[in-house]
Amino acid sequence: MFAIQNVEAKPGNHALFMVFALPDYQKATAQVKDLCGGLEAIIKSKLNRFGDSQTGAVMGFGAKAFAELFPKRNKPKELEEFKEIRGDKHLAPSTPGDLFFHIRSARIDLCHQVAEQITKALAGVTQSVDETHGFRYFDSRALIGFVDGTENPEAEEAAQAAKIPEGDEYCGSSYAFVQKYLHDSSAWDALPVEEQEKAIGRRKFNDAELSEKEKPANAHNAVTNIKDDDGKELKIVRANMPFANPSKGEFGTYFIGYSGLFSTTKRMLENMFVGEPRGNYDRLLDFSRPITGTLFFIPSADLLSELSED
Ligand code: HEM
Repeated sequence: MFAIQNVEAKPGNHALFMVFALPDYQKATAQVKDLCGGLEAIIKSKLNRFGDSQTGAVMGFGAKAFAELFPKRNKPKELEEFKEIRGDKHLAPSTPGDLFFHIRSARIDLCHQVAEQITKALAGVTQSVDETHGFRYFDSRALIGFVDGTENPEAEEAAQAAKIPEGDEYCGSSYAFVQKYLHDSSAWDALPVEEQEKAIGRRKFNDAELSEKEKPANAHNAVTNIKDDDGKELKIVRANMPFANPSKGEFGTYFIGYSGLFSTTKRMLENMFVGEPRGNYDRLLDFSRPITGTLFFIPSADLLSELSED
């Protein structure tokens, strides 16, 4: 079961991502707080009726919205408006967003109903910034044909990676960074499979990792594999979903990374877009372009309920 604010959950079969702007924070406050208190009931109702549907929702806040809606609260340490990252060739843009929802379910109709109920609860105080409908593609592949999510941490390790650690007043909450990527499918499809495998760092058919000798320094899984000073791998929890509008020639990946420290995700992004050393940027970016980039604070389920009474 996913329930709410379950940041370490698997991506699921269907996901709906919604980003809203709040044009007038003061006017929005009462409705947003009601939803902080009411989101759990929306999900519980679905799970009660469709127990195996794995329905869940995550609600998040942009830096400005959190400060404006909850002025008595301290700023979560790493919550900021995402600053664009500009490499020599590729750009990770920063785009606005006040409220964020990540809805997942094994059933698309339940995703829809949760989204509809959320939208109604916020009627009159929001403007839609983005809505993306993601789906599971075969055995969890991105639309570029590679299995996505293999090296994700699981269970306890996932919770540790996705949640703010003890010692911080927001321990148990999380940061979500989202980026909507469009793939240049024609260019990618024209690339020989061996070259695609070098871009990702894994085999396409069986998902096996390339050996250190075979894997180029600019492979996606080389630049995103980062370690702390003691040599321990730093992980985030990714719940990426493919999305597409084939008739419009639109094929993409909605990247979402949950982490207890946004600085971990940020380092991965710097490695991808700028390169370490500079110039060793992620080869995947020659075929995939982000058109959004927004950071959100994801309160734990307990904190979300407290916020409804702030
Ligand atoms: C177009 C967007 C993206 C696509 C299609 C994509 C796809 C993939 C694929 C196929 C893998 C290999 C299998 C796996 O372990 O999951 C992977 C690994 C990974 N990706 Fe991405 N990814 C994207 C963006 C990002 C971004 C923006 C980040 C971080 C900010 C990221 C972080 C990672 C990490 C940490 C790994 C595991 C690396 C390791 O093996 O240690 N990815 N991704």
